[in-house]
Amino acid sequence: MDPALKLCALLVILLLVNDAFASDFGHCERVVKSWAYTSLDNEIREDKHTLGDLLFFLHVPRTGGRTYFHCFLKKLYPNSLECPRSYDKLRFDPSKPKCRLLVTHDDYSVTSKLPKARTSVVTILRDPVDRVFSTYEFSIEVAARFLVHPNLTSATQMTLRLRSKTKAVSTLDIWPWKYLVPWMRQDLFERRDARRRNGQHTIEKNDYYDMEDFAMPLHEYINHPAARDIVHNGATFQVAGLTNNSYMAEAHEVRHCVQKYKILGKYVLQVAKKRLNNMLYVGLTEEHRESATMFANVVGAQVISQLNAPNTSLELVDKTEQSSVSDSDPDSSEHQNSTSETVASEVTSSDSGEATKLKMSAKELMGAYEGCISNLRKAQSSRRIASLKRISPVNFTKEARLRVSEEVLQEIRSLNDLDLELYEYARAIFDKQHKATMRAFTEQRWDNISSTASEITFWKFLPLAITFAFLILVLLLIVNVRRRTLKIK
Ligand SMILES: *[C@@H]1O[C@H](CO)[C@@H](O)[C@H](O)[C@H]1NC(C)=O
Ligand SMILES: *[C@@H]1O[C@H](CO)[C@@H](O)[C@H](O)[C@H]1NC(C)=O
Ligand SMILES: *[C@@H]1O[C@H](CO)[C@@H](O)[C@H](O)[C@H]1NC(C)=O
Ligand SMILES: *[C@@H]1O[C@H](CO)[C@@H](O)[C@H](O)[C@H]1NC(C)=O
Ligand SMILES: *[C@@H]1O[C@H](CO)[C@@H](O)[C@H](O)[C@H]1NC(C)=O
Ligand SMILES: *[C@@H]1O[C@H](CO)[C@@H](O)[C@H](O)[C@H]1NC(C)=O
Repeated sequence: MDPALKLCALLVILLLVNDAFASDFGHCERVVKSWAYTSLDNEIREDKHTLGDLLFFLHVPRTGGRTYFHCFLKKLYPNSLECPRSYDKLRFDPSKPKCRLLVTHDDYSVTSKLPKARTSVVTILRDPVDRVFSTYEFSIEVAARFLVHPNLTSATQMTLRLRSKTKAVSTLDIWPWKYLVPWMRQDLFERRDARRRNGQHTIEKNDYYDMEDFAMPLHEYINHPAARDIVHNGATFQVAGLTNNSYMAEAHEVRHCVQKYKILGKYVLQVAKKRLNNMLYVGLTEEHRESATMFANVVGAQVISQLNAPNTSLELVDKTEQSSVSDSDPDSSEHQNSTSETVASEVTSSDSGEATKLKMSAKELMGAYEGCISNLRKAQSSRRIASLKRISPVNFTKEARLRVSEEVLQEIRSLNDLDLELYEYARAIFDKQHKATMRAFTEQRWDNISSTASEITFWKFLPLAITFAFLILVLLLIVNVRRRTLKIK
């Protein structure tokens, strides 16, 4: 072929490719923008500071939301007011119109099924890098419990049989674990089989996040398509209503576009930030004490007064209406034979026993919370230790995290750029709300001191003060008289 002709052909191809890219990008930009505008328009509540009839706890996985559910909300709301568990979308059941509490890993799009104007949304966010670590560790921890079985076939069959027998919700039913755990389970069995085939294996490094003989290394996990689908930027996508578990038909196209063209992420962030702004409460996993206290004062106190209101419209505590699964804990109702399981279920049952005490103050609530959370943590930690023993020497500890290379950390940060920005924004909201709550408290206290309290003190101490002044006067007089008599002498 003529060189000039070749050049021409090349140019034509380049133009075509370029054109295809431009039109695909243009299409994506239109899709994302139009989604963003509709979402920003859809206002949820006028007064975001007042608790509505329905409290929706948007539970981002691995943020510690479970302790709020067990140790606050279950103590406040009777079971009859809990919406049927919707940790899995097949289970979502809008047929309980009077329910008042919904806690789920569903994304924001579930609000399309809720009475928007009467719904208050709360959530907790966590440092994105720590959240990725925790997701990785939990996926492996839960999957490792299956290693009691001789092989993968036997493990999956046993689980299927048990699940058909009981109604309780298992971690395996819940998004995102229903994808992450089976994936890791298969992976762990494959690695164990390979170890058995190959016999000796040497452990050179002590980096628990990179021991490929025993578990998928962290750097491999974060680059897998499944992690890209459901782990990275997970908080932003969940708050925006764009997870791959979304109720919204167009969510999937929007998500794919944003994953393909990073620049479109700014529209998703805009929507997510606005949503956070309109929430009744935003907590932070890192500021645990302050977050819990604020939750008790901002959410807990309002729930208490709402449920205690004399003309409250709920026909309270209709026990027959109790949902059969509302007692079970999504993360601890695993149907395997593990010794630590009993510990977890003991905690759960003793906690839900106190669930319906309505006459509680925010302060008492905080007290109950502290006890509950320490039990829950003990149970979680013994479960984790028992489970990780099965893939020993791998052991996910705080110290081990410090040995992960900066390169991997940097990769996690870059894969979670939207979450990093959203987290910064959440911190700002948190600080503002924290200051406002503190101000409200000190103002109240100051009012009490300057009015009632100080008046009481004044009248109580007036007679004492008069007596004291009188005594001093007498003393002065005596001294004076003695001085005079001395002079005269
Ligand atoms: C898996 O384990 C079960 C129970 O020990 C055994 O019956 C079955 O043959 C095993 N399957 C394979 C593929 O090894
Ligand atoms: C969600 O992501 C998981 C993991 O990649 C995948 O297996 C599943 O098919 C996805 N679901 C949808 C609805 O895209
Ligand atoms: C409760 O009663 C007050 C005053 O009677 C009324 O303003 C308020 O709307 C009532 N609330 C409900 C939920 O019925
Ligand atoms: C579970 O444990 C019980 C006793 O603790 C035992 O009888 C039963 O066979 C175990 N089941 C499996 C599947 O290992
Ligand atoms: C893992 O580390 C924890 C705390 O550092 C320790 O209590 C536990 O026994 C360790 N587990 C294994 C299997 O080494
Ligand atoms: C202020 O006093 C009122 C009653 O006079 C009381 O209900 C309230 O709890 C007090 N507030 C604080 C912060 O002590």
